[in-house]
Amino acid sequence: MTFSIVTYANNHFDGVDALWREAFPNDSAWNAARVSIPEKLKVQPDLLLVAVEGDHVLGSVMAGYDGHRGWISRIAVLRSHRLTGIGQALIQKAERRLAALGCIKINLQVVGSNEAVLGFYKQAGYEVEERISMSKLISKA
Ligand SMILES: CC(C)(COP(=O)(O)OP(=O)(O)OC[C@H]1O[C@@H](n2cnc3c(N)ncnc32)[C@H](O)[C@@H]1OP(=O)(O)O)[C@@H](O)C(=O)NCCC(=O)NCCS
Repeated sequence: MTFSIVTYANNHFDGVDALWREAFPNDSAWNAARVSIPEKLKVQPDLLLVAVEGDHVLGSVMAGYDGHRGWISRIAVLRSHRLTGIGQALIQKAERRLAALGCIKINLQVVGSNEAVLGFYKQAGYEVEERISMSKLISKA
């Protein structure tokens, strides 16, 4: 299979929307593609990447650099295309783009019910750190 990792463009919307619905079926409303993609396109839009085969979206990753840490989220690959190296290619490209901005350390969060994904991240060089994750919703989607 030949795929490439490219910066998200508007013609990828339907593919990313379908991918996220499949990969994150119980997602919060504010994570929906129609909400989060327009916001991402306002801030570091070249850190929203997609894996494509022709026009077909196979995977996605979103990253951000706040000047101190890099963050990676929304990494997903179509179920039909998993375990073929797409996820690894996505995370590596996101890492390269973060590094180019001066980022030296990347953080990410995994929901407790998704421990299965830890093997993927460990394979990519990530380590589990003792941290308590907190958040505050300051605006409704
Ligand atoms: C996580 C995910 C993106 C991985 O994508 P993928 O394209 O299947 O991953 P790759 O094929 O690039 O795998 C890279 C390496 O990780 C390993 N790996 C992948 N998924 C794994 C898993 N669930 N458990 C253990 N190892 C895993 C692969 O075996 C491979 O190892 P290798 O280099 O020794 O061959 C994909 O499983 C997915 O979309 N999951 C649902 C969405 C999700 O939970 N995202 C994370 C939110 S925190």
